[in-house]
Amino acid sequence: MNKAIGLDDVVVAETALSAIDGERGHLVYRGYWAKELALSSSLEEVAYLLWYGRLPTQAERTVFLQKWREARELSEEMQRWLMSLPRSLSMSSVLQSAIAALSDETQFDWPPTPDQALQVAAKIPTIIGVRRHALQGVPFDPPMRDWTHAQWHGWCTCGNVLPPRYVRALEAYLILTAEHGLNASTFTARVVTSTQADLPSALSAAIGALKGPLHGGAPSHVETMLEEIGDERLAEAYLRSRLEQGERLIGFGHRVYKTVDPRTEALKEIAQEMAEEEPWFRLALYVEKEAVRLLQEYKPGRQLYANVEFYASAVLKAIGLPKEMYTPTFVASRVIGWAAHALEQAATNRIIRPGSRYVGPMPQE
Ligand code: ACO
Repeated sequence: MNKAIGLDDVVVAETALSAIDGERGHLVYRGYWAKELALSSSLEEVAYLLWYGRLPTQAERTVFLQKWREARELSEEMQRWLMSLPRSLSMSSVLQSAIAALSDETQFDWPPTPDQALQVAAKIPTIIGVRRHALQGVPFDPPMRDWTHAQWHGWCTCGNVLPPRYVRALEAYLILTAEHGLNASTFTARVVTSTQADLPSALSAAIGALKGPLHGGAPSHVETMLEEIGDERLAEAYLRSRLEQGERLIGFGHRVYKTVDPRTEALKEIAQEMAEEEPWFRLALYVEKEAVRLLQEYKPGRQLYANVEFYASAVLKAIGLPKEMYTPTFVASRVIGWAAHALEQAATNRIIRPGSRYVGPMPQE
């Protein structure tokens, strides 16, 4: 395998945003364990930490939350435009287009700022909510407007007011997946930022990278796989036939983690608390065990375990989100990390322009 092709181990940026130890299964955001932040902080506080470099004081927190709530509003024009997009567009494509469309507004001049990041992050659930309601032919009319981001996201994606323990689970998911080093979508955001393009363009491009099944498009495929298996007794035959055909098991393997991903463990605990007795959750536990065993047999020495997407899909299902909302919900969380990287890139910018090695023919003399 030519590791240079996938840029394995190639360091292209210095970052103070997150540290990942793939051997020990550690994930740190700006000096804090991500898992502890997920238990003790709000999503907005974690966004502040990533964008400003430290947690907010009480006074800063109040101002920040107020700005966040105000920023979630969408102009009438934008709402009409969202309703006019073709029905066939996936929600990820809607988000990609809508965020790109924000770049025409003058407040997004280069270089990016934390205020610009807030303007985009706060609007993502609203974009989803407006579009979802338009597709269902019902008016977008939230019962409350001063909700936290997680409450707002829950209502916009499922149409229900989520009970507090579901909001907490959703918030933990949003925090645990907000930032993760130079994954494919974050790298995309940094490349676009390095050209001095505006922040919405960088974030929109990052959504394009995220939605592939090898990256953030995975969780709905995990659920489809579990639906296709349907019964523990059929799991081994199903997984074997996939592996025999040289296919990848979605929800397993990771470029960096060579042990269990700490986010997977945390999300598994959350899903377990919510859905321990559900047959679909017991099937997920069984399929995880079988898949790890079979991956050891078919890919010896590769150290392939369940990745974050395997139990992300379980948490989101337990909360009651429809499958088509899984990747958009990942967008809502990772946009915070993308924006933090855009800020960091802009601070010491040099255009990112790697080389390639020509292996084609030369003109004949
Ligand atoms: N199922 C079967 N085999 C796998 C899997 C898998 N899920 N993942 C890796 N392998 C195998 C590869 O076939 C390869 O085998 P080979 O050397 O015999 O050809 C070996 O393990 C190494 O694989 P790489 O392609 O080098 O792994 P890479 O680091 O490039 O890929 C990735 C990481 C894309 C996540 C991969 O594990 C994968 O495709 N997983 C399934 C998709 C998925 O779950 N994506 C979500 C990732 S999490 C996220 O993005 C937030």
